[in-house]
Amino acid sequence: MNKVIKNGVIVTATDTFQADILIENETIVQIGEDINIPGAEVIDAKGNYVFPGGIDPHTHLDMPFGGTVTKDDFETGTRAAAFGGTTTIIDFCLTKKGETLKSAVDTWHEKSKNKAVIDYGFHLQIVESSDKILEELPKMVEEEGITSLKVFMAYKNQFQADDETLYKTLIAGKELGALVMVHAENGDVIDYLVKKALKEGNTDPIYHALTRPPEAEAEATGRAATLTGLSESQLYVVHVSCADAAKKIAEARNQGIDIWGETCPQYLVLDQSYLEKENFEGAKYVWSPPLREKWNQEFLWNALKSGQLQTLGSDQCSFDFAGQKDLGKEDFSKIPNGGPIIEDRVSILFSEGVKKGRISLNQFVDITSTKAAKLFGLYPKKGTIAVGADADIVIFDPNIERTISAETHHMAVDYNAFEGIKVTGEPVSVLSRGNFVIRDKEYTGKAGDGQFIKRAKYGTSLQKDKTMI
Ligand code: URP
Ligand code: ZN
Ligand code: ZN
Ligand code: ZN
Repeated sequence: MNKVIKNGVIVTATDTFQADILIENETIVQIGEDINIPGAEVIDAKGNYVFPGGIDPHTHLDMPFGGTVTKDDFETGTRAAAFGGTTTIIDFCLTKKGETLKSAVDTWHEKSKNKAVIDYGFHLQIVESSDKILEELPKMVEEEGITSLKVFMAYKNQFQADDETLYKTLIAGKELGALVMVHAENGDVIDYLVKKALKEGNTDPIYHALTRPPEAEAEATGRAATLTGLSESQLYVVHVSCADAAKKIAEARNQGIDIWGETCPQYLVLDQSYLEKENFEGAKYVWSPPLREKWNQEFLWNALKSGQLQTLGSDQCSFDFAGQKDLGKEDFSKIPNGGPIIEDRVSILFSEGVKKGRISLNQFVDITSTKAAKLFGLYPKKGTIAVGADADIVIFDPNIERTISAETHHMAVDYNAFEGIKVTGEPVSVLSRGNFVIRDKEYTGKAGDGQFIKRAKYGTSLQKDKTMI
């Protein structure tokens, strides 16, 4: 049946206007004033904004890490994402040394099959650059539609790749049309600092932050940017946490290097002092890179506002406090890194960003949806409200007030890192390809309705909007 969304204020990355939207099956087919179609279901969005569905370019669902596995899987994680106004995620497919890329991708398809409630794609980790891996890579990009490759510069003896692998991946990315992504921290230096701290008997969660200084992030960010310039490739830096690293990205952009930066809600709202909470509660706030001194937040907000950082990922990587985070009770380096944020990413940016006057409404849409769609080959099917686009739509009440809490969230974990924080604005209803997944704040979706998306090569979607560069 056709649907018409009436009376809402449509917001895209560039425009804000009142109009009706006609949806036929999965697609937006008309936008205009007073659309009246006999027999169509009418959805009244009066008093609400109508946004393109959020795109979360950074999630880890059902991921083995730090001797355990993330609590949220593709079902609970994508359901929580939908509650929060996100209709597409791109999850990181991990690989192991010696394993074929195909086998890794098959594993991730197994994890997500019949589980996701919204659409999803994969980034592919590159951990080694053997001839075998490099020969297999074109198939992943061209046939599997996995057009972004991830290299970890940290997590020594686990995920960390060397500079040779990073450089070869950048060259392959350029040749194949794939966007190379980095976790930018100097893993060797961090490994030394962690061992030193433990030897000195410093085992509390705060030492997680103290052994991963901003310089380690800035150095790796600058190194990756330099190698990107040398290879004339393209780079996306995930989870930028501090001013020093953001400056490296801005500097490289000013030199004409094709580099993009993502930050996360935790770095915009929380700070290093949370790691000092008593009774091991600091473990709830262990991310890599770590939370930083508070003054960094203003720098990151300004970088989003000025376009020096472009996207917001959740870096959803959830572990229970009881039974998972406490693996590191005697040793901070054993605390599984990461937190649950997939659900509150959009609300936090709206409340802290738009409502507090730090970014505009259109910038909010760009940062939570449109830019990621363009960078990761999803635009214009996703990331905007336009004729021909998928009907991935969020009806958003900008005035509802809510207190974030683990008692009311929909993620599978036993705590929320934003517990007690008040936000204004919340998704009321969410459509994924024309179907309600959330209706009047109730879940109406179905596991398995989310589809795997083969994405276009890097640059294809960007060229559809030359104004963005
Ligand atoms: O602490 C984090 N960020 N956990 C997830 C893995 C990663 O590095 O993105
Ligand atoms: Zn990372
Ligand atoms: Zn991550
Ligand atoms: Zn509920």
